[in-house]
Amino acid sequence: MNKTTKDSFRTIIRREYVKAALIPIMIIEVMLLILYFSINFYKDNKAKETLLKEAKVNLSEISKLETEKINLELKQISQFARILQSENQRFFEQPDRYPLPAEPPILKIAANGSMYKENDNGGSSIYYSNLIPFTSKSFTKAIQTEAIDPLFKEIKELDSNIVAVYLNTYDNMNRYYPFIEKTYEQFEPGLKIPSFNFYYEADAIHNPSRGVVWTEAYLDPAGKGWMASCIVPIYNGDFLEGVAGIDITIENFIKHILRLQIPWEGMAFLVSKAGDILAMPPKVEQIIGISELKSHTYAETVKKNTFKPESFNLLKNPETSQVFKDFLHSKEFIEESQIKGHDFLLSKYPVEETDWQMVTMVDKDILYAPIYSLHKLGILLGIIAVFFLILFYAAFFIFLTKRAKKVANDLSSPLDYLIITTSTITSDIPPILLNPVGIIEIDHLLENFNRMMQKLRSVYDEQEMKIAEGIRQLREKDHMLITQSRQAAMGEMIGNIAHQWRQPLTSIAMMIQNIQDAAKYGELDKKYLDEKIKRIMEVISYMSKTIDDFRNFFKPSNGKQAFNICDTLDYALSFIRPSFEHNNILIETQCDQNVVLEGYPNEFTQVLLNILNNAKEVLVERGIGQPRVYIHLKKTFDKITLVIGDNGGGIDPDILDKIFEPYFTTKEMGTGLGLYMSKMIIEKNMNGKLYAQNTSDGTEFIIELYE
Ligand SMILES: Nc1ncnc2c1ncn2[C@@H]1O[C@H](COP(=O)(O)OP(=O)(O)OP(=O)(O)O)[C@@H](O)[C@H]1O
Ligand SMILES: [Mg+2]
Repeated sequence: MNKTTKDSFRTIIRREYVKAALIPIMIIEVMLLILYFSINFYKDNKAKETLLKEAKVNLSEISKLETEKINLELKQISQFARILQSENQRFFEQPDRYPLPAEPPILKIAANGSMYKENDNGGSSIYYSNLIPFTSKSFTKAIQTEAIDPLFKEIKELDSNIVAVYLNTYDNMNRYYPFIEKTYEQFEPGLKIPSFNFYYEADAIHNPSRGVVWTEAYLDPAGKGWMASCIVPIYNGDFLEGVAGIDITIENFIKHILRLQIPWEGMAFLVSKAGDILAMPPKVEQIIGISELKSHTYAETVKKNTFKPESFNLLKNPETSQVFKDFLHSKEFIEESQIKGHDFLLSKYPVEETDWQMVTMVDKDILYAPIYSLHKLGILLGIIAVFFLILFYAAFFIFLTKRAKKVANDLSSPLDYLIITTSTITSDIPPILLNPVGIIEIDHLLENFNRMMQKLRSVYDEQEMKIAEGIRQLREKDHMLITQSRQAAMGEMIGNIAHQWRQPLTSIAMMIQNIQDAAKYGELDKKYLDEKIKRIMEVISYMSKTIDDFRNFFKPSNGKQAFNICDTLDYALSFIRPSFEHNNILIETQCDQNVVLEGYPNEFTQVLLNILNNAKEVLVERGIGQPRVYIHLKKTFDKITLVIGDNGGGIDPDILDKIFEPYFTTKEMGTGLGLYMSKMIIEKNMNGKLYAQNTSDGTEFIIELYE
């Protein structure tokens, strides 16, 4: 795994702590919340389903019960109509057999030509249209039919819903109970009665089974409200004598329906076969935007055959037609529909006798209201739970972070200390022992660390002492080395001085001898003596200068100073020249006078002397035939190369890399420090380089220096 970012122990502990403690609980809580809301949702849906089912059953039952009540009453009317039919048929078969009422009718022809009955003798009124000219048969018929009036009266009184009982004949006579005064004023003259629906709907074409026929409901022109007619054909054999009828008001049914208490603030209304609204509570009118027709003028009603205008028809009104056409014609008795964007539960049940339908509707919002409020409560509870959960988690998070911080601190502060202590382990800060934190692993670690620290400390102290001792010894050795090297140099110097002084001392001795001889032979005069003394003084001053040089040489240089290499070389040569001459060693120098360097001239002289002395020693020791030493100075850019070579036969290659080591010598009386010290001076003090290489007949020592 390639990790690019680094986290501190603290961060890791805190993060892991929070992760391990917070995340799983949060996941569980979130899942519980999801579960809670899902269950709520599921429960609401289930409750809705159950409620809807219950509402459907309830509405169906109410519709059924209420319509059956109406149906029962209508059935009774139908039975009366059947009695009316059979009695009338019997009458038309044998009119003579029926007794006439005590008070005979007074029949008159009105000015507009229609016949009417002037006196109310407790029976029906008569309107006889003059469309077919009256004959004596007409009068006889008007009189004889008085015989069925008692039946009319009886039927009317049997049922409070019955408004009128009547008979219309094929030849335009109308007998109507209860009695209507001046029928010629109420009805237009010359009416063709069989052309009205309350006649032809029962004729042979429309009603071949000759049964009871219910007309469509209609608004009563005389202001009695909604009515319906139950009509029956009256046959004499196969001849249709007329159509008898019972008019009923359906206001009672309507009132009953409007007063119905339907659960869930449900509403009921009655629709006729054709879709006319017979009864409609104002609330429904508002919802579906269609009104019930309540008033109508008499004349208009008659002219329009009592049918309602289309706007009052549920099936023809554009606002409602679609929903109700589908519903009223569907096989389903209950349906969920949308009316003007609002959801309703619709239920219908037919009034079998008349083919009316009772429709009940329940607003789903009202139906579901308890569920909605429960749902809202559930959501509210959920939100409160979420709120408290957030509060809890905020608090829990703070608590956890604090705990994590504490644990992280407990764990990481010793680590921090370990880091600091180990980083300063070599410094002089004394190690502080760490206190246990109460966590087994960390405490073990701390214990080990403490022990390790103690051990380290003792080892460190021991080592420090040993190092100090080593350093002290080294310093001592160095000091010794320097002393030894200086002593050696001094020895050599003394040797050189001895060489230097041999000649002058001999000349002084000879001059003293000369003075003695001159004195002996009386040749000693002042001039002679002065001259000799002057010569002797010269020699002594030369010797004194030699000593000065010697002293100068042993003084270490006063810091870095500019010096001329060739001058320094001459100076060095001045020390050794006598002993070189003594051993017949030829010195060749090639030196450019202008090479000036920053450095330590005395120390540099010492280097030159060491190398030259080594050359002299090897040349003498090996008894080289024509001993020769050459010194060449080369300068390229800022690099100065001084080569000091000899023809002493070279250095054994086996020891070539050892000659610069301290104490390495092949000489019986040698210290082996000359080259070592020389290398130190050139390389350490003057940042140059000193090395040796063999040539064809000897050795070359090369000094490289930089301006
Ligand atoms: N020019 C040379 N030719 C051959 N061998 C040399 C030459 N110069 C140095 N050596 C070898 O290098 C050795 C080390 O020289 P170095 O000057 O360090 O010590 P040393 O001369 O032996 O002792 P000291 O200088 O104290 O008299 C010498 O013993 C010698 O064997
Ligand atoms: Mg030497």
